[in-house]
Amino acid sequence: MENLKRLIGPAGPSEMMNVAKTIEEIRRFVRRGRGAGKTIGLVPTMGALHEGHLSLIDAARKACDLAVVSIFVNPTQFGPAEDLSRYPRTPEADLALCRQRGVDAVFMPSVEEIYPRTDMAEAGQSLTEVSVSKLSQTLCGRSRPGHFTGVCTVVAKLFNIVQPDKAFFGAKDFQQAAIIRRLTADLDFPVEIVLCPTVREGDGLAMSSRNAHLAPSQRKGAPALYGALRLAERMIRESRPPAEAVISAMRQYLATHAPEGIVDYIQIVDPDSLADVATTISRVLVALAVKLGSTRLIDNMAVDARPSKA
Ligand code: PAJ
Repeated sequence: MENLKRLIGPAGPSEMMNVAKTIEEIRRFVRRGRGAGKTIGLVPTMGALHEGHLSLIDAARKACDLAVVSIFVNPTQFGPAEDLSRYPRTPEADLALCRQRGVDAVFMPSVEEIYPRTDMAEAGQSLTEVSVSKLSQTLCGRSRPGHFTGVCTVVAKLFNIVQPDKAFFGAKDFQQAAIIRRLTADLDFPVEIVLCPTVREGDGLAMSSRNAHLAPSQRKGAPALYGALRLAERMIRESRPPAEAVISAMRQYLATHAPEGIVDYIQIVDPDSLADVATTISRVLVALAVKLGSTRLIDNMAVDARPSKA
């Protein structure tokens, strides 16, 4: 702990940032804040913080008296073929960024703190799990079985541990946010879910901790995901074509602009039910996942081409 404090150097605006490693410590912090009549905003993350995460932190600080960030690389949301050990971990830099950004407390637990009774090798059989099955069966859920159950389980635990008034999620992971909204409503968590816009690099690539894994040629093709979404948006606004026509134009665009990319899915769905739509006459969500080498990138855009009711 002292060592960590030395590494992150002089404190920024939040001189008093609390770093809690245990459930008891973060609960004590929250209890004290609540006792003083303060509201709590939670930003759940897996660390390797970038401007996307920081935008959620800014939103939490604005909307709540105290901003709590959790940093926990959650093993139960990684599939057996997905490399948990390769996930970037930059705890010192994360703490320094949180401090600079005025975060009040960081909850940074160990795996044992969060899953004390669970053998990670058989988590799926031995852990009490939360799942939102229907919304988890489409889009990313198709190629990542079990992923959203891991997300839901850890987010439910974080909600119980921190008991925030509001929790902040990024539109970049639209399906995740939709699932968490549903979980919150179905299990009666007294938490308001706040969705924040996707933060992008200058060339349109959605910021992600995984972008660091892209080789230079892959990085060059990566903005094509956003390019394909922009093309879809243009087509839908101009002529509201059938979803299939939009999807095939996006496929062609990706083949030209990111020839190395392998499309996992391109789907046009209803933003609430996440069910595929055949037409683009109502409000839709265009979403895609593309693999560049071993790195899987996702992006999405909500498009509403209905004539505005002015
Ligand atoms: P992580 O990938 O670290 O993302 C944490 C939060 O940051 C999520 O709500 C995500 O949507 C948001 N985020 C990531 N990139 C963003 C961007 N470019 N613009 C805006 N927001 C962005 O998502 C997770 O962690 C985990 O699944 C978690 C919810 C913490 C559960 O383990």
